[in-house]
Formats: sequence, structure tokens, C-alpha cells
Amino acid sequence: MSETIHVAAGNEWWRNAVVYQVYPRSFADANGDGTGDVEGIRSRIPYLAQLGVNAIWMNPWYPSPLLDGGYDVADYRSIAPMFGTLDDAKRLIADAHDAGIRVIVDLVPNHTSWDHKWFVEAVAATPGSAARDRYIFRDGKGENGELPPTNWSSVFGGPAWSRCEDGQWYLHLFDISQPDLNWTNPEVRAEFCDIFRFWVDLGADGFRVDVSHGLIKDPDFPDVDLASEILTVGHIENHPHWDRDEVHEINREWRAVLDAKEVELGRELMMVAEAWVKPESVPLYLRPDEYHQSFNFDFLGCPWDVGQMRASINRALVDAASVGSSATWVLSNHDVVRHATRYGLPGGTDYQEWLMHGSPELCDHTLGVQRARAVTMMLLALPGSTYIYQGEELGLHEVHGLPHEVLDDPVWRRSEHTRKGRDGCRVPIPWTTAGSSFGFGSGGSWLPQPSDWGAQSVEAQDGVPGSVLELYRSALALRASSWVNSGDLTWVELDPYAIAFERNGYLCITNFGDSEIQLPDGDLLLASDNSADTTTIAANTTVWMRRP
Ligand code: NOJ
Repeated sequence: MSETIHVAAGNEWWRNAVVYQVYPRSFADANGDGTGDVEGIRSRIPYLAQLGVNAIWMNPWYPSPLLDGGYDVADYRSIAPMFGTLDDAKRLIADAHDAGIRVIVDLVPNHTSWDHKWFVEAVAATPGSAARDRYIFRDGKGENGELPPTNWSSVFGGPAWSRCEDGQWYLHLFDISQPDLNWTNPEVRAEFCDIFRFWVDLGADGFRVDVSHGLIKDPDFPDVDLASEILTVGHIENHPHWDRDEVHEINREWRAVLDAKEVELGRELMMVAEAWVKPESVPLYLRPDEYHQSFNFDFLGCPWDVGQMRASINRALVDAASVGSSATWVLSNHDVVRHATRYGLPGGTDYQEWLMHGSPELCDHTLGVQRARAVTMMLLALPGSTYIYQGEELGLHEVHGLPHEVLDDPVWRRSEHTRKGRDGCRVPIPWTTAGSSFGFGSGGSWLPQPSDWGAQSVEAQDGVPGSVLELYRSALALRASSWVNSGDLTWVELDPYAIAFERNGYLCITNFGDSEIQLPDGDLLLASDNSADTTTIAANTTVWMRRP
């Protein structure tokens, strides 16, 4: 029996948006200094409009020593000089709005940079002072306080505590340069409400909130049984710093700020949580007075497996609808190995191990891209929003061979050079087939690009039927006129190796098996492969159809 999944009602833009993630350092470099900038992004708005996205999410663009790619913010109300100025940001937002594209900014509330004036003040102040209370300073254990206050690990490796000259320790769940803020301090709470208002007043339409599950720490600071060196919460109950109940109170405070601004300005605003929590916890972040959306990392983590993917989709849809939210779909971002590469590697590959020691040939590039095309079309047909990471619309792969001396990710430093980290998905993207940094900018690129990058550039794919770029363009256009307003989803049982569903007469079928599947009756609208076959669906392929 086919089962129908209800989609929560609502016409807000974010419920069905296609959001394009821009990593400012690596998108487009207007001033030729080898690093992307705001003007570069602004110059590419026509490209984004033609692609058909509804919003852009800007990774952090604030002043920062860039010890964690900008997630170490020194000033939340300004733009890093290397990226431009606040006026540039205003112009970018205005141009995006003129092109019908909304702008989501990245807010980083769990920690500041150690260059933030509050932390500079805290280090200069005395233990127990108001300046220190904005962060998490504690005395150490051991006879002379020489041992860290807890055994917590930094996500990037090594202990989560560092010691100041006066002997106290400060907490940093991430890099040593990213001290955690004290979210029980009223001044910290008030400051972030104000930062939300600042960016909304500047024109922002939404916020992606970094580490939204990590703000609250157990006041007793107990040790953990398991060193939590990964971003996920796993299933540790009552974890001392991930996914604690008290975090929902903060979510509600921010939602009230956005709701009030929405009324004041008459513009729909949203916030999306970066919460690496267990799937059961996700709907709690999506209650009507909390986040509008949360990234669906469960699906991102699925291997190429029909059963796991379908179960993950089902759960995300049911959970989102249960709290009146909409599901999100994301395959890649600046923190994970690009999905064309993941799908081209043998199942079970340890990606960091492969990046360190594995052979690039282990990845079947053609298969990876074929599967990436198929999964993208499947996600675009589902109810909810899709987040696209820059360059995936070109079918870009993870850059495998980055030499050690160019690695910039704190994961590389903190893991004592045992994990390369995330730079392989952050390499500046190619716009042209040749020339300095393949059109990224006139002054080279801050991370080296592969020599064959030009063949995947925008120029190489623009107008070329069957290219990944043209598939994205066609799929986004068709999605807007078909799937977006199609409401509820009904699973269709067609083949054990297929994920198939119907929405309002539109049918989406993905073949995860090795053999062809017969096309059912109906008009073929779009296929993720380039074969002219209109009778069968090849392996690793998605088709969109219209029922007769
Ligand atoms: C998640 C961000 O996506 C990642 O890039 C960053 O390193 C951590 N949060 C710490 O801010």
C-alpha cells in the first residue's frame, strides 16, 4: 500500500527555497588578491539568478584572523577588509534583492575569535571579573591547577581547554583561538539579540546559526565518558555540552526577536540551525517558536543505499511536518567531502584517511558525478528546501592532492598533521576554461586549483546540453513550475532498488540498483543522465515524469 506523507501548510519563502551557499574566500575575487570578496560575489549575481536560486547563504565574512576560515569572529557588525566593507555588503544585498534573491548571513554565537575585544579584555582582567564571566574561565584540577578542568576534547583535536598566564583555563570546543561564550551571562544574550537586529536592519533575510546545539554547558562541568572529537552528538544522553535542553530557551529568545522584526519591517525572516544532533532531537529545534529550519545532516551522512536514504527522507519529512516546519536537503557544504567524491568512493571509505594516504584513483569520478546528478534531482523534487554548495552545480570533486604546506584548516594543525581537514572542498571554483585561477580572479588563488579544473568551469559547461550546470538550470526551472507547489508526497512502490514518489501528478524515480527499470506510463520531463532512452531508467539515474 502506498503511504502519503503530509506536508505542513505555509507559503513562507524559506519552506521551498533553493539556497546557494557562498564561501566568500573561494567564490570570486574582484580585486585580484587571490582571495574572494564581496564585490566578486556581487558581480556573479546574474549567474546565480540564471541558475534559479532563491537565496544565498554567506559563510562568515566578518573581520577575523581566519584561524578557522572566519568562524573565529573578531567583530560581528563589520566585514573583513579582505572581503570588502559594510557598504559593499549593503550593495550586494540590494543587488541580490533586485534579482529576487534573498540573503542569509552566518551567525557564530558559540564562540568568538580570541581577537574579539571581549576576549582581549577577559584575558587582561582578573579571575572572577565581569569581563571573564562573558566566557568560560575555570580553575584547573591537580595540586596547582595544572590539569584542565574537565577531560573534554576540542572538535578539531586536543583538549578543549587552554591555560592563561595567570593559571586559569578557558574553554574552546573548537580551535584554541575560538573561546566559548558564556550563554548564561545576560550581556552575552543581549548582545546577540542586537546582532540579529543589526543584520536584519542592513537587509538580511535570514541567519544560519553555527553550532546551535552547543551553546549551553552543564554547570557542574562533569567529565565525559567518551571523548567527543566529532561534531555529532551521537547518542550520549545528557551530554555536558551538546544538545542540552536549556538551549531551546535561547532559540525562543532569538525567534521572538525575528518575529518582532518581521512585524516591524513587513518582511519574512528565517533562521536555520546548524545542529549536529541525533535525528530524534531535530524536531525540537523546529517547534513553531524556535528555528524555522534545521540542516538535515542525517541524509547527508547516508551512504549510497536505497533503504537508508528512503528511511532518512521519510523521517525528515514526518518530523518536519509534525512541528509545522519544512524539511531541508543538503549534500555538501564547506565542512564535508564533496558528494560527487563520496558517491564515487567505495562504500565505507574513511575520507580523512583517503585524503591523507589514499590513491586518487580509488574514486570513480564518472560514477560519482552520475550519482550526484541523480540524488540532486531526487532532492529537488522532495517537499522542502535544498541547500546547494558552490561548485556542486559544476560537478566539482573534492581536491585530493593538496600539499601539506598549503593546508589552512585548524583540523590539520590540531590533529598534529594526522587529518588534512576540510580544505579540499574549499578550493576556489573555476569560472573559465583557462587564465589566472580559471577566472576566479586575476591574482591566482589562495588554495591551488587542480590543473584540469578548467574543463569543469562555468564557461566549459554554459549552454552545453547535458552538462551538470545545464542539468541544474533545467531542474531548478522545472522544480519551480512543478514540484514546489505540489504538496503532499505519496511513496510509489515500483522496484526494490528505486526510490519513487508522486506529488500532484508528478513522479520522481531514482534507480539505485545495477539494472535498468522500466519507465511507467507518463511523459518524461527530465532525466539526470544523457541517454536518449525513453523506455527505461538506467542505473544511478533519476527521472521526472508527468502522469498521463
Ligand atoms: C561549524 C562550521 O560549519 C565549521 O566550519 C566551523 O569550523 C565550526 N562550526 C566552528 O565554528
